Amino acid sequence: MTGPEGRFAGKRVIVTGGAAGFGEAMARSFAADGASVLVADIDRRGAEKVAADLPSALPCEIDVTSEEQTRAMADTAVEAWGGIDVVCANAGLPHRATNLIDLPTDEFDRMFAVNVRSVYFAARYCVPHMGEGASIIATASIGGIRPRPGMTAYNASKGAVITLVRGLATELAPAIRVNAVLPVSAPTGFDRNTFGSDMPEQVERAVIRGIPMGRRATPEDVANAALFLASDEALSSPASASTSTVGAASSKCPVVPGSEHELAAVDVDDLAGHEAAALAGEVGAGGGDVVRLAEVVDREAGPHGVEVDV
Ligand SMILES: NC(=O)c1ccc[n+]([C@@H]2O[C@H](COP(=O)([O-])OP(=O)(O)OC[C@H]3O[C@@H](n4cnc5c(N)ncnc54)[C@H](O)[C@@H]3O)[C@@H](O)[C@H]2O)c1
Repeated sequence: MTGPEGRFAGKRVIVTGGAAGFGEAMARSFAADGASVLVADIDRRGAEKVAADLPSALPCEIDVTSEEQTRAMADTAVEAWGGIDVVCANAGLPHRATNLIDLPTDEFDRMFAVNVRSVYFAARYCVPHMGEGASIIATASIGGIRPRPGMTAYNASKGAVITLVRGLATELAPAIRVNAVLPVSAPTGFDRNTFGSDMPEQVERAVIRGIPMGRRATPEDVANAALFLASDEALSSPASASTSTVGAASSKCPVVPGSEHELAAVDVDDLAGHEAAALAGEVGAGGGDVVRLAEVVDREAGPHGVEVDV
């Protein structure tokens, strides 16, 4: 926490998928830094448990694929706190690792309903309650820009999130900033959904070999990136003055897809001392438990924009 009340004192934050993993870490970090937090999740008990630990938090049961429930989530925050300052559209799911042509159609559709449509609904129903300086942060994935075999539908859904974020950023600037974080592999419920268990040891070793930091991300790494993007530091740093590969926009220069700035990026660690890892791509198991690892992310350094790979 910074200062007696915290960086986000008085801010009203919604975190979807807030009962576990990255979302839980975001909820706890925003709360520790002074925010009121709506912990929104399909797992009602999990949301209640996290909210009960926090000084100013409410649980909210929601299936993010539901338009009605998303509207109700926004209304809950507004009724409790009078408005919304930050929305972390974080809830998401992988499918079981398998090649695309073997993936059942309903699983394909589920990827887009949970991972993509949810971000649209969150924006649609929260933005009318958000004012100048507010911020939306979607949890995408490094797989959205560097897909690997075995996770194609999931990665395509995250690619769609990135495009959605970029477009939304241009539409909502200058009042509201829209960003995405692109986590690499982290040990959360995600592993169980992908493998049906914790990540197998030999797979984890292979994953870590592809990560220059020598470890997988942690939920706190991802939460730190989200807090940075939601903070005033992001407004006053060079990052907010221009564009991003993940959709950062600002009052000064919104993202223009295809523009000369579009691929410019600066590591957040350089900007804010944030411990962003240089990371590899998403794990994908294609047939059996063959795991292909992404190459090291080739970061493009430049004076504008911020790419957050955590
Ligand atoms: N863990 C990783 O390796 C990794 C990597 C890249 C991106 N991501 C993304 O991070 C985000 C968070 O995942 P995580 O790793 O923390 O996983 P997690 O399984 O630990 O947490 C996901 C949370 O979302 C909730 N959720 C799932 N479906 C929902 C729905 N329809 N409505 C509301 N809530 C729902 C779950 O109940 C859970 O609490 C997801 O968008 C995921 O795709 C994860």
